[in-house]
Amino acid sequence: MKSRPKFDVAIIGSDLEWTIGWWRVSLQRVYPTVTQLSQTYDRAALQWHEHLSLLGYCHAYGQLWKSLKDADLLPHWQDNSKICDCGIGTAAFSLAFARAIAPRAHITGVDVSPQMLEIARQKLSQAKVSHQICQSDLRKLPFADEYFDGVISAHVLEHLSNPEQGLKEIVRVLRPGSPLILAVTRSNLIGRLIQWHWGNRCFSQTELSELMHEAGLTNLQFFHFPVGLTRLTSFVCIGFKSSI
Ligand SMILES: C[S@@+](CC[C@H](N)C(=O)[O-])C[C@H]1O[C@@H](n2cnc3c(N)ncnc32)[C@H](O)[C@@H]1O
Repeated sequence: MKSRPKFDVAIIGSDLEWTIGWWRVSLQRVYPTVTQLSQTYDRAALQWHEHLSLLGYCHAYGQLWKSLKDADLLPHWQDNSKICDCGIGTAAFSLAFARAIAPRAHITGVDVSPQMLEIARQKLSQAKVSHQICQSDLRKLPFADEYFDGVISAHVLEHLSNPEQGLKEIVRVLRPGSPLILAVTRSNLIGRLIQWHWGNRCFSQTELSELMHEAGLTNLQFFHFPVGLTRLTSFVCIGFKSSI
């Protein structure tokens, strides 16, 4: 008769499983539901932009777009190009994008939190950026296939229990040859602290690369934020929807 291991530990994704003699104990990661996330971000909405600014994220977003522009890595978007910001929050990433890259693009801001969307609407209006606001889960976007000329998204994918589904939906609405520019939380000590507070996940470059490839994105390139705290907490990946 085969004897059972006395002690064994297995890490399966973000779950842990211990086998101790004849017992198996598992610790399973649970993610907030869309309703819980929407309520959490509704409560955070009023202070969100100020906190982002104080922590240097708004500045870092601006510097990132400038460095991508200087490196000539992005398409030359025409006036009225359709750009979607998935999980737009208070529009910090979109505002920096519009300022540095495409002031005349039309931004569609998608989010599950009505309060975040209301602030995004105000800020985009004040900055005179052409836009529309859409309350939706980014995994079920109410747009036709190949509708957008580009998708941008900062610190949102890590909130999804199934990020592969989010990426698949983003790729569906992207025009072939167009880019997704994605900022995510890094898998390091600071990332883990953020994860503890917000209940999100962190990504390593390898994990994100696999997910992006599986979703049909090619020519992946990875970047660090050029400045500040954001450099420690986050990294950026650009991928293009295959045009074949
Ligand atoms: C960490 S905040 C980032 C906001 C903004 N992108 C920024 O960089 O400031 C995450 C945002 O994603 C939104 N969000 C979370 N899950 C979402 C989902 N499934 N679909 C759309 N938005 C979502 C939240 O409501 C919140 O506004």
